[in-house]
Amino acid sequence: MLNKPAPGAASGRPFLQVEGLAKAYPGSSEPVFDEVNFGIDRGEFVCIIGHSGCGKTTILNVLAGLEGASAGHVFMDGREVAGPSLERGVVFQGHALMPWLTVRKNIAFAVRSKWPDWTSAQVDAQVQKYVALVGLSGAIDKKPSALSGGMKQRVGIARAFAIEPKMLLLDEPFGALDALTRGTIQDELLAIVRETQQTVFMITHDVDETVLLADKILLMSNGPQARVAEIVRNTMPRDRQRATVHHDPQYYPLRNHLVDFLVARSKDLSHGKAPAHPPTVEPGRGALADAPPSVTLKAVA
Ligand SMILES: Nc1ncnc2c1ncn2[C@@H]1O[C@H](COP(=O)(O)OP(=O)(O)OP(=O)(O)O)[C@@H](O)[C@H]1O
Ligand SMILES: [Mg+2]
Repeated sequence: MLNKPAPGAASGRPFLQVEGLAKAYPGSSEPVFDEVNFGIDRGEFVCIIGHSGCGKTTILNVLAGLEGASAGHVFMDGREVAGPSLERGVVFQGHALMPWLTVRKNIAFAVRSKWPDWTSAQVDAQVQKYVALVGLSGAIDKKPSALSGGMKQRVGIARAFAIEPKMLLLDEPFGALDALTRGTIQDELLAIVRETQQTVFMITHDVDETVLLADKILLMSNGPQARVAEIVRNTMPRDRQRATVHHDPQYYPLRNHLVDFLVARSKDLSHGKAPAHPPTVEPGRGALADAPPSVTLKAVA
């Protein structure tokens, strides 16, 4: 089956462009990361994976405009990112809800900021729609202190979606969810993203989640001086489903490639040994299901 390219993939300059990004802290001889270069096309779902501490959250915060980089630039839709904007919806690694406000009011606050001219009824309808989507209608008038960790995370997800941003930035959004809820919300996320052609940058530690959700995977080497070492294209069809994706002949070559990077290669590439301009690879393209990933790896750029 042919794989459809992400929308916007052929339009030249990517929707989001990251150039020469670096972050260094005073008193440290090496930067946390440097020479981070990658692009994200409009409508593309991109996951970044890498070991704890390599700088994933820092990169996401820079893309969100919440933190400055030591060097480099981020452009979104042709304009440089210079501060926070309601064009980017963020789900934080911690849920970051306002503890004195109910679920309804936490989300309404964001919705009202985005559409200040809306009536209360319009705001409430938008809030209810997205609260229902994450299965929390019954808890809409509770405060965060009365919710479990997973429920709080779902409120954070609903808040980011409710402002219908140009881009979603998700920092381990499903980390506190049990496996069943995680699967349900992942499916919901995929459905919304496909329907709205949303552009997504998501941090995760979960290889299976990555293989299901991502069109493109950024592999980050270990710090210090971490980099995006390789860009992996998911060559499975975009309409892949959780129940059947593992039967695709490209599933295991792709999954094995990601695991091999995390357990072995990521360490050897710390201290700036990864290339500044990472190659794009397609593990498993045209491969037999049981062929080892090293045989099937094909560089495409
Ligand atoms: N104020 C600071 N001073 C010095 N180093 C810092 C400071 N803040 C963060 N760091 C370092 O920056 C690095 C990157 O942190 P970041 O939170 O971006 O990592 P991460 O890849 O998201 O990790 P995790 O997977 O654990 O969430 C870490 O090694 C951390 O020690
Ligand atoms: Mg992090």
